[in-house]
Amino acid sequence: MKNSLFRKDIVTVESLTTEDVELIFEKTREMERLVKEKGGDDRLKGKIMAALFYEPSTRTFSSFIAAMQKLGGGIIPLNGMKNTSVEKGESFKHTIQVFSRYADCLVVRHPEPGMPAMAAGYVDMPVINAGDGINEHPTQALFDTYTIHKHFAGLDNLKVALVGDLKNGRTVHSLSQVLAKMGKNLFFHFVSPAVLKMPEEIKKIIKSSGTNFSETDNLSSVISESDVIYMTRVQKERFTDITEYERLKSFYMLEKKMLNNAKKRVIIMHPLPIAAGEISNDLDTDLRSVYLKEQLSNGLYLRMALLDLILRR
Ligand code: CP
Repeated sequence: MKNSLFRKDIVTVESLTTEDVELIFEKTREMERLVKEKGGDDRLKGKIMAALFYEPSTRTFSSFIAAMQKLGGGIIPLNGMKNTSVEKGESFKHTIQVFSRYADCLVVRHPEPGMPAMAAGYVDMPVINAGDGINEHPTQALFDTYTIHKHFAGLDNLKVALVGDLKNGRTVHSLSQVLAKMGKNLFFHFVSPAVLKMPEEIKKIIKSSGTNFSETDNLSSVISESDVIYMTRVQKERFTDITEYERLKSFYMLEKKMLNNAKKRVIIMHPLPIAAGEISNDLDTDLRSVYLKEQLSNGLYLRMALLDLILRR
C-alpha cells in the first residue's frame, strides 16, 4: 500500500482519509506483532522526535517516547516547558523553529486549541497533535477506534455511548469523528449533564457523515443497548468556576452493578486519567474493562505506526 502519510502532519482527524486510517491500522497490527515477537527494531535509527508538552501528560508523552525508542529513534523529551527558555519569554514560533533544527518530527501538546496546527505552519516537517486544549486528540481517537475495531472485528452497526464532559473533552471530539468516518450504521449516545453537551460543530460533522445520535443526561438508560461505554472525566482545568466543577465532577460514576443488563460483549473504555471516581475501582479488573489494558498497549503500537509512517517513505 502506498504510504500517503509520509511527512504528513497529524493535527486534525478531519484531514485523515478512510484510506489513511486503514493504513494506520494495518501498520499498527504490524507493530503489535513486532513488539510481541522482537520487542522492536532499529528502523528509525538516526531520526529524532521532539516531544514538546506545554501541558501535563502521563500516557501520551510516555508512549510517544517509548514508541520512538522501540523503533531505534532518538528523543528530545520535554514533559513540561518549565525548564526551557519558554520561561524566559521565548515565543511559541521561535521555540518550534528551534526544535525543527534538531529533530525530524515534532509532537506537540498545548492548552490552547490550534497550536499544533500553528506549529505545523512554521516548519517543514511532520507535526503530531498530542492534544490541544478542548479541541482534539487525534492519536488517542485513532487507537481508541483501533481498540473498538479489534474487539468487534469491525465498526459497523455499533452503539457507542460517550459519557461525561463532552463539551471540554478533546478525546470524544476526535473519537466521534473518526468512528463516524470509519463505521457504517453506527449510533452514538451522547451522555452528559446539560451544561457539558457535545458542541454543535461536532454534532454537525457527525450528522453530515450520516451517523445518528441521541442526547441524554441519563447513563443508566443507555447501558443495556450500548456496545461501547466510553467514560470521560470532567475536565477540571477547563473550568473558571471551581464550584461548578465540584458540582459536576461526580455526575457519573459507573459501577459494576450498573452493568447487570449490559450486552455480553460490551467494553468499558476511558482515555484516563480517572480523576473523580467516574469508573469505580471494582471495574479495573473486570474483563469488560479495556482502559488499563488494550487501550494502553494499542496506544503504544499505534504511535509506533504513526512515527514509522510519517518518517519513512
Ligand atoms: N489520555 C491522555 O491523553 O492521557 P495523558 O493526559 O496522561 O497523556
